[in-house]
Amino acid sequence: MTFPALPRLGFIGAGRLARCLAVGFARAGYPVAAVAGRSAQSAQRLAQAVPQCRAVADAQSVVDASELVFLAVPDDSIGTIANNLRFDAQGERPVALVHCSGATSVDVLAPAQARGALIGGFHPLYLFSGERVDVERIAGCSVTIEAPAELTPVLENLARSLGCEVLSLPGEHRMLYHGSAHYAASFALAALSEAVDIWRKLGFNEDQSLRALLPMLSGTIETARGKGLSNAVAGPVSRGDAALLARQLSAFEALGGDHAALYALLTRRALSLVRRRAQPPATIDAMTDAVEATLERALARSASAP
Ligand SMILES: NC(=O)c1ccc[n+]([C@@H]2O[C@H](COP(=O)([O-])OP(=O)(O)OC[C@H]3O[C@@H](n4cnc5c(N)ncnc54)[C@H](OP(=O)(O)O)[C@@H]3O)[C@@H](O)[C@H]2O)c1
Repeated sequence: MTFPALPRLGFIGAGRLARCLAVGFARAGYPVAAVAGRSAQSAQRLAQAVPQCRAVADAQSVVDASELVFLAVPDDSIGTIANNLRFDAQGERPVALVHCSGATSVDVLAPAQARGALIGGFHPLYLFSGERVDVERIAGCSVTIEAPAELTPVLENLARSLGCEVLSLPGEHRMLYHGSAHYAASFALAALSEAVDIWRKLGFNEDQSLRALLPMLSGTIETARGKGLSNAVAGPVSRGDAALLARQLSAFEALGGDHAALYALLTRRALSLVRRRAQPPATIDAMTDAVEATLERALARSASAP
């Protein structure tokens, strides 16, 4: 039995991600039939934003009203909810159940598959704010899809209807895929927070620091988009200013804590980017030695710490 190309969509979960996808899919012409949340309020709020969409009492009512159900709930609840849903095991009415997590395995939906559902993963690489503006901002992002052959084109078309690129991923790589995506999200914030903390010691508050640092970050991203990572690296590492880098590493060591270890580890990555250039700076080995010596001292300090 072929899966409908323009399926009736349903949402279990009416949070940040569901609000964006439901509105975006409806705008693209997909029928969004039903939504249920844990509370009636969140489902009603979403239903009011989507023409023809009904807020229903529970997750099973979403399945009964839909052909493709997005399970858009916190990861820890995905398996429990999937385990309690009933599907048409004879396949008279094909229903697919898809979760939206990057980290949780699609196998957690196996109980639904055993009861006749097609199962899959539809993970948007986007941080949802829960605001309406998400529907515009998600365009240009990527959605990672894991699904059987009959469902894959349907999910790909849904992703493209939001203006997104499509990625596909074998299930066994989910942990590394999702974990490393944090470098483009929370870890970028963690790196900024390190700078803000150090600037606080210099007398700048967070607002002042972010006003100065965020435009640098935006500029760096734009340069990387145009020239690639290796050519976008700036600072002493890029110019080959080995003596300056050594003084910077010493300044971070003098701060104590793990500041120098973090700085040296990130510099190690920046150096390997610079090494990829056609003509890396002549001092690259001296800079690498300084970084490795800093890291060794940091490791020795943490090993001897009580
Ligand atoms: N947020 C992101 O940036 C993002 C990005 C990519 C992927 N994801 C994935 O998307 C999924 C949803 O994340 P989210 O950020 O949208 O979560 P969220 O904003 O916390 O919303 C979760 C929704 O699930 C509902 N819910 C919780 N337990 C439920 C249950 N037992 N039955 C029915 N509904 C239930 C909640 O209902 P109430 O509102 O009534 O409490 C809420 O509407 C997760 O798997 C997450 O990993 C999120």
